[in-house]
Amino acid sequence: MRKGYFFMLKKVAILANGGDCSGFNAVIRAIVKTAEKNGVECYGFLDGYRGLLNNNFVKLETSGLASGILHRGGSIIGSSLNANVFNYKVEENGQVVYKDLSEQCIENVKKDGFDCIFTLGGDSTQKSARDFAVRGLNIIGVPKTIDNDVACTEITFGYNTAVTVACEAIDRLHSTAETHNRIMCLEVMGRNSGWIALESAIAGGADVALIPEIPFDIQKVADAIKARQKEGKNFSVVVVGEGAKYKDGEVVVKHVRDGGVGVINTQLGGIGEKVAQDLERLTGLVSRNTTLGYIQRGGTPTAYDRVLSTKYGAKAMQLALEGKFSTLVVIKNGKLDYVSLEDVVGQNKEIGAVGSGTKESNAKLVTMDDDLVVTARNIGICLGD
Ligand code: F6P
Repeated sequence: MRKGYFFMLKKVAILANGGDCSGFNAVIRAIVKTAEKNGVECYGFLDGYRGLLNNNFVKLETSGLASGILHRGGSIIGSSLNANVFNYKVEENGQVVYKDLSEQCIENVKKDGFDCIFTLGGDSTQKSARDFAVRGLNIIGVPKTIDNDVACTEITFGYNTAVTVACEAIDRLHSTAETHNRIMCLEVMGRNSGWIALESAIAGGADVALIPEIPFDIQKVADAIKARQKEGKNFSVVVVGEGAKYKDGEVVVKHVRDGGVGVINTQLGGIGEKVAQDLERLTGLVSRNTTLGYIQRGGTPTAYDRVLSTKYGAKAMQLALEGKFSTLVVIKNGKLDYVSLEDVVGQNKEIGAVGSGTKESNAKLVTMDDDLVVTARNIGICLGD
């Protein structure tokens, strides 16, 4: 037995699931490196849970696929959207039906002798991870998403890169707003959470931040912009989270796939344009919207995300060596830690509230006493309430 460890691991596998973000590869690299140091073989299922279902995996080694990947965006083992194997879309006799194919996945894991599966993903990925753990697989989750909305952790990997990209966009919009005396809106991602919008607004010195957690009064936003005009500032920068909504309004949905089955089938978008049009009408200033989109998710991770991802990957492998399964690695009080997957996804709660037709969600949203909200208010960023 390895010194200091009480669980005999031989072979582990990683899967990356859900929308991509910067840092996937840094987590993979850290798991592989820690595994190799401890004589454990490491594999990667291709395209997330879909690879688990189809038993499609590759060997990951620092002398092979896992070499030179720390700074690379995306995921070297792919990542799948719409791959809930507990409710999987299949065609039978020309009809679309949803089936529970999890048993096939469990058989695959047992047949190939994987002692632990690392699930890199957001809340819906970890919900499936929890369901597999309940059915006897050794699972350790790593919290991913640019949205930063996974419960029980202070930060997810990918988030810092998204905020950094949004901050740079705000800087660029600032100069054009000032030059032409315009209102520049920037619609950022984040789904039903306002973390990216709020943090990037503070980082970029925006004048207004509209987030899903605070339904906004457009007249109040227009008033704040007019007050700036009175001080001789004829331009404003407005950051709008894609899930932000007008008071008594609804989230703006851009596109619904597969009848909206599952949260990822409801694509949000369009609120930035609507806000820009309303502000132009209410203030008389020319207004333009820019939607930042997938640029927030792609490309090289920031130094912060590389370090966070490395910490997460190494800790996940350490937990596996200690036999601490059914867990998610987290940051708690600024330190690496772990929690039970059960605490993350809750008792049978559906994941994702708005737009998915489900009412309950464990998503970690911005709270009104959060330092970011308090700071934004203290320095006079208009939150539209
Ligand atoms: O959850 C990450 C995220 O980028 C959200 O911020 C955004 O709403 C969504 O994914 C976009 O999903 P898709 O890749 O399906 O368009």
